[in-house]
Amino acid sequence: MKKARKRNMYILYNGFRIPNGYSVENLISAIDYKVQPGEIFIATYPKCGTTWAQHIVWLLRSKGLPLSPDQKMSRMIPQLEEFGKEGLEGLEVPRIIKTHLPYSMSPHHPEAKYIYIARNPFDCLVSFYHHTKGFPAYYDFADGTFDEYFEYFIEGEVDFGDYFDNLLSWYAHREDNNLLFLTYESMKKNIKEAVIRIAEFLGGEYDKNAKNKDILNNVLLHSSFEYMSKDQSRWSSERSFNIPFIRKGWVGDWKNYFSEAQKKRLADKFKIKTKGTELHKLWAGIIPD
Ligand code: A3P
Repeated sequence: MKKARKRNMYILYNGFRIPNGYSVENLISAIDYKVQPGEIFIATYPKCGTTWAQHIVWLLRSKGLPLSPDQKMSRMIPQLEEFGKEGLEGLEVPRIIKTHLPYSMSPHHPEAKYIYIARNPFDCLVSFYHHTKGFPAYYDFADGTFDEYFEYFIEGEVDFGDYFDNLLSWYAHREDNNLLFLTYESMKKNIKEAVIRIAEFLGGEYDKNAKNKDILNNVLLHSSFEYMSKDQSRWSSERSFNIPFIRKGWVGDWKNYFSEAQKKRLADKFKIKTKGTELHKLWAGIIPD
């Protein structure tokens, strides 16, 4: 018999879930935020490489100097819906801002720039499962199982909503001039190319810095998995470190977790949700056909 699911893990606002510890007030503040020209948004569904992209953008701006161990990414590049617009006060302008909101809920300005990182849903689910277990204060899921989490994810009953709603909403804008759509998997395959694409997209000092060989090498060094695995309190303030935030960084880790039935269910959902798009091509050979 299926174990009863806990229902108190998230805060619900108009059917949209945010983690406990966040507030509806800050969520509304985020939705209503008046974006300034030049601001840079790093938009993702959770666990799709947000922190990695944040650090790359940070490094491109800081000429390759990494976030120091006493700096927190959540303060330097805050998540809009976590802290609301007050959380952006005092940031160097133009601000760099993180969001996990779907396109329709995120604030926009035609002269702001948006970097969206997509990751295949199978690895995203595995990463999100570990994340949810690793933040007991937010999710009360420390003793949760993969099978339980799978049910939450496939129903879209997780924080920041259904994976596919988020992905499809941003994917529809992938050709917009002010949006750069990248995949986690392409970053894993060729990080130098991805960094250069980000720098060229952002232009100005970002592009200039990336054209300097020493700076580019430092960006690559300090955004590597090995480097970012050190001093992890920079990336996430309240994590219980039984499961590290920078965890494994694999493409295909899902194969170690999914049962045959789960594989088929998520593959079927992928097919239905992404019908009529080219999304399956992004992850050919990585997720089931
Ligand atoms: P895994 O749990 O699969 O290891 P987010 O920042 O959106 O929460 O995403 C977290 C995921 O990105 C984790 O995936 C984490 O290990 C991975 N990640 C973070 N930094 C990385 C890096 N420098 N290189 C590769 N993967 C990275």
